[in-house]
Amino acid sequence: MRRREKDSDSPGPLGAPIIVVWGPTGAPGRTTVAVGLASALVALGRQRTLLVDADLSRGTVAAHLGAEPGGATIASACALRPPAGGRVTPRHLQRPRKDGPWLLAGLVRPRQGSAVDPSALDGLLGDLRAHCDIMVVDVGAALPPEPRGDGHAACLGAADLVLAVCTASPVGLGDFLIQAPALVEALQEHTLDHVRVLLNHAEPAHAPRYKTEIERALGVPVIGHLPHDHGAVRQALAARRGLAQAAPRTPIAASLLHVAERVGAAAVERRRETDPWASQDQSGPERAGRSPGAADDSRERRDEEWDARY
Ligand SMILES: Nc1ncnc2c1ncn2[C@@H]1O[C@H](COP(=O)(O)OP(=O)(O)OP(=O)(O)O)[C@@H](O)[C@H]1O
Ligand SMILES: [Mg+2]
Repeated sequence: MRRREKDSDSPGPLGAPIIVVWGPTGAPGRTTVAVGLASALVALGRQRTLLVDADLSRGTVAAHLGAEPGGATIASACALRPPAGGRVTPRHLQRPRKDGPWLLAGLVRPRQGSAVDPSALDGLLGDLRAHCDIMVVDVGAALPPEPRGDGHAACLGAADLVLAVCTASPVGLGDFLIQAPALVEALQEHTLDHVRVLLNHAEPAHAPRYKTEIERALGVPVIGHLPHDHGAVRQALAARRGLAQAAPRTPIAASLLHVAERVGAAAVERRRETDPWASQDQSGPERAGRSPGAADDSRERRDEEWDARY
């Protein structure tokens, strides 16, 4: 483990920050990123990272992590809420692996996703904030007025930080730019202020061009890129683990750790802005996403290289 959990990282009375991973149609890698990000947060020492599968069109997170079939899902957890009078508890969450994130599984059939009430989903995420230190939510591409779009919009509305995944290809960029206005509409504040973009399937030589185009078109920071790495992704899927655990020495896992540090810190900071208790904490928000290993020289050098690129 690269970092020990700190009391200062525990959620205040308003609860844990939520990072929602969204991306347009075309399977840009939302689930690969959500599973990879949550697993990287655990590798950084956030043992109480919760991964919620809220892709109402196609929930595949449980398959990625080898979850027990028959456990609670977002639908059964939503059904507990008022008027039923119950509430989700840690008992409803599972942790398939001791070195991975906690999990609330999704729904494998689109028909099941259509039956989920968006306001119950919003309430569920609010309840879950009390049971973890940080939450990663995988949502599908569909946004209102598309079927199941209201449920995804409810999750996006609850986000402290949105990580938007864009395939670094001409077609992927087109999908991303065409669907970005619908994302703005879906966000509670109707701005992209708390959105960060991650390029996926990126060829390092071409990533800077995509970064420039997105930042120019939308004014949203691109915070990194993941290389296309079929071998590492397949290895993680076969092992039913995140990339940080299944293929720790690969460039894609290293990129995910950087992204997790940055996105984790930004989400905690944004949550603190809305949490009067946490803002009295003496530790700076930038502390929260960093590992003690940041003091290490080689690590700092890598961070500087990363900063120079992003
Ligand atoms: N960086 C990568 N390198 C290699 N393969 C990748 C990478 N990212 C994703 N993939 C592969 O691309 C495919 C789509 O990825 P994923 O399922 O994560 O996308 P998605 O956006 O969640 O799609 P869906 O619409 O099915 O929810 C999968 O086969 C996955 O293994
Ligand atoms: Mg998916």
